[in-house]
Formats: sequence, C-alpha cells, structure tokens
Amino acid sequence: MCGITAFRGPSAATHARVALARLEYRGYDSAGIAARRPDGTAMHVRTLDGVEALADAVESDTDATTAAIGHTRWATHGGVSERNAHPLEDCGGRLFVVHNGIVENAGALRDRLRSAGHRLATDVDTEVIVHLLEEAVSVGMDLGEALADTATHLVGSWAVVALDSRTGALAGTAHGSPLILADGGDGVYLASDVGAVAPFVSAFRVLEDDDVVDIDAAGAHWHRSGGSDRPRGLWPVPEVALLSRGGRHDDHMGNEIDEQPVVARRVLDALAPSIRDGALWNRLGLPPVEEIDRVAVLGCGTSLHAGRALAGVFARVGRIPTRALTASEAAHEVWEPRTLVVAMSQSGETADVLRALDGLPSGHGTVLALTNNTASSLARRADAVIDCLAGPEIGVAATKTFVAQVLTGACVALSGLSVSGRADAAVLDADLSALAATPDALSGALHAWRDRAADLAADLVTASGFLFLGRGAGLVYAAEGALKLKELSYRWAEHHAAGELKHGPLALVDAGTPVFVVDDGDPRLDVDIAEVEARGGRVIRVGERALRVGGLSLQLPRTGPSWGPLETVVPLQLFSRELALRLQRNVDKPRNLAKSVTVA
Ligand code: G6P
Repeated sequence: MCGITAFRGPSAATHARVALARLEYRGYDSAGIAARRPDGTAMHVRTLDGVEALADAVESDTDATTAAIGHTRWATHGGVSERNAHPLEDCGGRLFVVHNGIVENAGALRDRLRSAGHRLATDVDTEVIVHLLEEAVSVGMDLGEALADTATHLVGSWAVVALDSRTGALAGTAHGSPLILADGGDGVYLASDVGAVAPFVSAFRVLEDDDVVDIDAAGAHWHRSGGSDRPRGLWPVPEVALLSRGGRHDDHMGNEIDEQPVVARRVLDALAPSIRDGALWNRLGLPPVEEIDRVAVLGCGTSLHAGRALAGVFARVGRIPTRALTASEAAHEVWEPRTLVVAMSQSGETADVLRALDGLPSGHGTVLALTNNTASSLARRADAVIDCLAGPEIGVAATKTFVAQVLTGACVALSGLSVSGRADAAVLDADLSALAATPDALSGALHAWRDRAADLAADLVTASGFLFLGRGAGLVYAAEGALKLKELSYRWAEHHAAGELKHGPLALVDAGTPVFVVDDGDPRLDVDIAEVEARGGRVIRVGERALRVGGLSLQLPRTGPSWGPLETVVPLQLFSRELALRLQRNVDKPRNLAKSVTVA
C-alpha cells in the first residue's frame, strides 16, 4: 500500500515523482523513489515527510535518469520508518521493488530466505519479493522472467514493479491489486491508479491477474497470464481523473464540502431526466425490478453509509427486502438467486469490496457498481456500472462522494421502481420532488452552519467523547457524523439508534456530554432529547423539522425522502472539520488512514 508509479524514458525520476504526488492521498506514511543513472548506479531516496520532500534529492540529478519507480506507503506490515519505506532494495543495491498488497506467506518465505543466507533488513512483507527476485536474476533470468518466477512463490495480493538499475529494465505484475500501463509519448508509465498519470496520457491498459509487463529501451512487452503476448485492451482516461482541484480553503476537505451542492446538481442534471420512464435503469442493462427478489448493498466506511441510505429507497419505495452489508463480512452471508447486489465504492479499489464480489456464489444475480471511478477494478468486475460524478476527491475523509453516491443510487433505484408497478406512487412522487430540492437543501445547510459549526467546535474542543443519535432514515447520518468525527479529530464518537439510548449508551452521558441528534422528523426524538438533557447532556440538533413556538415544539409532518435527511451530513462534516482544525489535525490526511484501502 498504497500508491505505485514507474517511468521508463528521459528524466525518469521526475516523471515518477510528479505522478506519485498525484497519488499521495492514497497513503502517506512514507514515500520513496529509486532510479537508474546512466552509469548503472542507482539513486535511492526515501522519506517520512511526504512526496514533496523527495523533490530536492530527485531533481539534483534527474535529467540523466532513464528508469524510475516510486511509492507512497500506508503501513500494513512493519512500522512507519525510513527503513520500511519502499522502494526496497536487494543487498547489492541493484534491484529495487515497490509493492501494494499483502504477501500472506511472508513469514515462511522470510525463514526460507534467511536459511539460504539472505540478510533481511526490514520488517515488511515486501522484502521477500526483492530477495526472491535477486535469486531469480542471479540464475540468469531477465527482470520480467524473474518477476514472473517470484510471483509463483507468493500467496496474497500484489501489484509489484521492479527496477534493475544496472540494465534500466522495469517489470510489473499484479494479482488482486491494480496496476496499469500507459504510454506518455516520451516514455512509458506503470501506475497503481490512472489518476497518477491522467494528465500525461490519453489511454491506458490494465494488467489482469498474473500478467507480466517488462519495459526496456525498445518499449513495453506484455506477457499475458494465459501465454499470449498481445497487450490487453486500451481504456480511455476518464474525465473524472482530470478535473481540476481547488477552492477557497487551504485543505481539500473544506473545498470538497463546499462543492456538494454543485455535485448534487451535476448528478441530477445527468440522471433525473431519465428516471421516470425507467430509461436510466434500462440503460444500465439491469433486469426488470419484477425479476429481483432482494437487494444487497455492499460497501465500507462512508460508502457503506451511502449504501444504507440507498437501501432505504429500495425498501421504502419498492418494499423490496434489502440489506446493507459491511463488505468485509459478506462472506458470512447467505446468498440467494435473483439478488441485485449494489457494490458501493468511491475509489472502486477497496479490497474488501472486491473480495466480497469474488466470493459471491454463481447464479446469485446481478452486480451493479456505484463508483466515482469507472475505470476501477470494481467497475471491471460488475455487470453494470454507474458513475457517481463527484469529481476527484482528495481529502481522505469522504464528503462529496457520499452525497453523490446517495443521489446517484436514489436516481437509479427510483428509475427501476418507477416502471415496475411496485412503487408506492405517492412516495415516488414525494421522492422525486425531494431529489430536485437537494442542491438547495445542501447549500442552505452550508450557509446555516458554516459559522455555527466553527463556534460549536470552539465550545466543544475539550470534549473527549461524542454521541450521535438518529431514528429510521436519520440513523445512517448519525453514523456518518460519528465516523467523520473520529476520522478527523481522533476523539471517541459513537452512534446509536436513539431508541437504544436508554438500553446502555445513556450511561455515557454526563454534564456537558455533546450529543448530536439527527432529526428526520420523528416525534419520538423529543423524548430521547429530554432523556439526554435530564442528565445534563448538551444536545445539538441537526436537520430540525420541528417548529418551536413559545417553548413548545410543534412537529412538522414526516415528509422526508426515503434516503433520509441528506443535508444533515453537512453540519456534521463542517463540525468535524472545524474541531479537527482547532486540534491541529491534518484534515486531508488523518493519521493511520488511507483514501482507498487496497488490502483486505
Ligand atoms: C477507507 C477510507 C474511508 C472510505 C473507505 C471506503 O477506509 O479511509 O474514508 O469511506 O475506505 O472507500 P471506498 O473507496 O470503497 O469508497
């Protein structure tokens, strides 16, 4: 983990570094570059200070480098240290390796390599790869052959790129972890994500499991896992990988929160016109809703929360039995035929989601991928793909992709249901009106809460724990609020169904304990709030649908959409960011996390 780049061509180290900087949000514990100089020696630099910190070392003699590999890491095996940073080298400093994934049999391989006389210098699983490579090269294999041979010893998942600094050759292979090849005109790239190279190439090819590509002065040579040497097909670079990034805040997260009304409008402009007649559903090639007996929505983290909101649409509008599942737990589920599986992942590369799909029994039904990356591994595995059109999201804590996923999913579900005869017409109509009002509701929430969130964060900066409560369709927004808060501020945050409060969590409430309540209009929330306030807890109500008249709370009728009070996520995001900034956290790169986790 987490980002790989490589380049064969002039000023290779600079090309690898510039591409690597575009991947840094994928993992940022440490970074490194190795490159071949013309005299056959290697440049090898590693740092704990981020890709930018590699610039001086790389630029001092990049012009002459002809082949380079780079890596930005999110630690799995082995602590965060320069010694454990990639690229890892063999003992002689000739061969270098970068790796994403996990070598599950690293322990056994380490023992074997040690007894064969190798000196292992790090704690990382990747190190076995470079020593196995060295063994294969030392018996006369070229780099591509050696890498193919090395892979036969590995169990787990990998995208690996190797550099032979003596010859300038590069070789890459993949198994369960993405790796792409692209021609940049002045040279050839390998990368773990098309976003790394998107501005510099127009199309790319994807390595399938156990393909090997080697690159020398004559160009790239493909060795497909089945034996053919024909390259895999070309994919155009998706627009989303290119869109500009920016805004009025210094951090990406602040800009991405602000962008949410625009994103919502983009989704609705693209999809809403084709909801009514089922055109959107049909365009995706999905089976008629009558042929679907149940829906299972899969995802992790924020995407799972978006999936829970979407599950509400299938269940409330269509009365279809629907489950939202944590992807890493999907293996424990019972799967039945005629199931629509909606796999949610903004990156499309989350290994838990990919593994869940790989584990589905045959004949289970249809897989729809809902992703922000239509060129992803998830998109390639699914029967149908819908782009959530959020544009690039750099902040590790997901914000605008959440909103985009909920709205995209709602459009697709409502489209299928609208022609199924299964939908409750009144609920469907109400949902369609609510969809159209979403961009304004999101900008209203931004305006109403921007200053309020900052003041609240100032007030609550010393609070050590936070509760988030909701009921029904509001519960998932409480969950998302708690997730944002812990991701960004490193403070404890729990979410609960408000009705469960009295069955345990109330014991946590003390004088001043902050309790966020997501108000979806359920009148029973007033009782929950009273229980908190009676213990001295400080209630912060978001998404108020209640009218307060002279101290009395008059509940408005429950008219919320089936995906719940989406706009309530805005104050929760704003508050988490403000609190984190006050606590001097890096809101774009929270500790211990990565934007897309490509190990299961
Ligand atoms: C990581 C990120 C989370 C994200 C989750 C799912 O854990 O830190 O912010 O929600 O992955 O990512 P995905 O790309 O599948 O939506």
